[in-house]
Amino acid sequence: MVNPDDLRFTKMPLSCGSGAMPALGFGTLIPDPVATKNAAKAALEAGFRLLDTAERYKTETEVGAAMQEVFKQGKIKREDVFVITKLWNTNHRPERVKPACEASLKKLQLDFADLYLIHTPYAFQPGDDQDPRDANGNVIYDQGVTLLDTWTAMEGLVSQGKCKAIGLSDVSLEQVQDIVKAAKVKPAVVHVESHPYLPQWDLLNYCKANGIVLQAFAALGHSSEPKLLDDPVIVAVAKRVNKTPAQVLLAWAIQRGTAPLTTSKNPSRIQENFQVSALPDDAVKEISDGIKSRIRFNTVVNTGIPGFIPRAK
Ligand SMILES: NC(=O)c1ccc[n+]([C@@H]2O[C@H](COP(=O)([O-])OP(=O)(O)OC[C@H]3O[C@@H](n4cnc5c(N)ncnc54)[C@H](OP(=O)(O)O)[C@@H]3O)[C@@H](O)[C@H]2O)c1
Repeated sequence: MVNPDDLRFTKMPLSCGSGAMPALGFGTLIPDPVATKNAAKAALEAGFRLLDTAERYKTETEVGAAMQEVFKQGKIKREDVFVITKLWNTNHRPERVKPACEASLKKLQLDFADLYLIHTPYAFQPGDDQDPRDANGNVIYDQGVTLLDTWTAMEGLVSQGKCKAIGLSDVSLEQVQDIVKAAKVKPAVVHVESHPYLPQWDLLNYCKANGIVLQAFAALGHSSEPKLLDDPVIVAVAKRVNKTPAQVLLAWAIQRGTAPLTTSKNPSRIQENFQVSALPDDAVKEISDGIKSRIRFNTVVNTGIPGFIPRAK
């Protein structure tokens, strides 16, 4: 019999790259650098073996420093950790892709990323300003490059050994289908917002049928209102199985075949979020079928503007 406590160690096979990716991952979209480094260290010490960062989060340096400190303690090695980072919108021009990846790797103190994602399908005006705006405050998009142009440059990074696998983030099903049709290296992972209020079943079914892992961010609802952690169905299941609402949401995400990402600055919540074990099948079904609310918390998919990062003044 499978031990329910083994759920936290679930690995998802990847169509290319490091073979498999831990299902349960820790995200580092944390505004404060000291808190980021402490949280990344605490996550590794709690058992997480996947760290997600991005050029845009400005947390790569802290994630790199946290990994180095943990590696020096000798219990966890580089090859034990699956590291994800992302190409920002201002670097979609093919000639900017490799330098952007190399800059991320330098900050992370790594030779390669296990997964490199195109952060959003929107190209912004190329340059050092990550949030280029016109005089009216509107984002300046770059019409001179397509998602496929950027994807083709990403494929080059795999053959150059800069990353083991590549993928897409904040994309629609149609955008994934277009890239899959045209790609030489298929997306290994599609990274999007997903939780019981935004289950994305069509995208998940397509990903499963095509050997793509769906990685689910905001798996706990990002502390946004209405609070997913207070949803009556989640709270009732949590009471019944003697787990916390966060543990229920993470278990549900893994058991339905996605790879959830969660974030916390709080060491005890970080530990709580790794102590995930399998729910009975009827509880998984109750969450899938019983929650009817449909809410997207992050509007990044509509504009490419990060929904969870406040605009700099
Ligand atoms: N590609 C994209 O566009 C994109 C967009 C958004 C996020 N992401 C990635 O996905 C990661 C996860 O997203 P997220 O931050 O929205 O995740 P989340 O885990 O749904 O939300 C994090 C929030 O939940 C709270 N929290 C965490 N564990 C908790 C627990 N056990 N009980 C109660 N509250 C808890 C945290 O507060 P405390 O810190 O106070 O514990 C924080 O406010 C990000 O870090 C980032 O790596 C990607």
